[in-house]
Amino acid sequence: MSQVSIVNHDQKEFWNDIKGKLWVEMQARIDSMLSPFGEKALRTLNPQKGEKILEIGCGTGTMTLALAEHVKTSGQILAADISHPMLELAVSRGKAASADSISFVEADAQVYTFPTGEFDALFSRFGVMFFENPIAAFRNFHGAVRKGGRLVYVCWADRKDNPWIRIPTGASKEFLEIPPPPETDAPGQFAMEREARVREILGKAGWSKIELERFDIDHSLGQNVQDAAGFISKMGPMSEPFALADNRTKQKCLEAIQFALKPYENSTGVQMRFGTWIVSAARS
Ligand SMILES: C[S@@+](CC[C@H](N)C(=O)[O-])C[C@H]1O[C@@H](n2cnc3c(N)ncnc32)[C@H](O)[C@@H]1O
Repeated sequence: MSQVSIVNHDQKEFWNDIKGKLWVEMQARIDSMLSPFGEKALRTLNPQKGEKILEIGCGTGTMTLALAEHVKTSGQILAADISHPMLELAVSRGKAASADSISFVEADAQVYTFPTGEFDALFSRFGVMFFENPIAAFRNFHGAVRKGGRLVYVCWADRKDNPWIRIPTGASKEFLEIPPPPETDAPGQFAMEREARVREILGKAGWSKIELERFDIDHSLGQNVQDAAGFISKMGPMSEPFALADNRTKQKCLEAIQFALKPYENSTGVQMRFGTWIVSAARS
């Protein structure tokens, strides 16, 4: 791993502090929640044996390992992330899997100097919504992908179509001081929610054949409301204030989230709507 210049200082701090550590602690659980979206994006990418793929915001490395399986030993994956703790886990999982085709770089992907025209494709699962200058970031990625190459990523779509995060966050506000949601289009979970904005960013960054496919599913947030509330309180926007709260406040907050999630609970768990965009584009 190597470390170079950073422009996204807030995101570096965010993903290296409590948030990054929680993602490491909850890697398996987060993966089981995110897996249908990563799998769908991977099917759209359709990686081939021998391909070189750049992964942005690889986090704890789950999709990195999946990509490596597809490209086999003749292919290569370069996986970049700004979070030291998440990348540490990714590196150790790569070693445990003896995945020699994977290299990791600890970097701000917006400004990191990737090798020019080197990659057949760029991939990301929820790792491209955090750039203060997304056009610069996607232009940087454009330079790294060869002519005729492609991009596929999955990101969250309209926040109104993601009650799994909106409803528990609303419920916890009574007990926790939740950071205000980022302003429209500012770096954060929903920064790429608007189709027109995605088209503008990718178009200005030089990408062509831009396509957005909605992939919305009902999916489980937990086995029951207790399980779902415990999970989302560590994963959602309330995770930092929740981690710092006293036990009594935590308990009250969990009860409020459980109450808010109750209408979604059935015999198969807490089933909620998750709305995403599968975005693809070409490097012509
Ligand atoms: C929502 S997490 C997704 C992680 C992983 N792709 C997954 O699906 O499990 C977003 C990831 O993007 C990374 N990230 C945020 N800003 C970044 C930047 N400027 N450069 C590189 N990685 C960044 C974070 O550290 C984090 O690992």
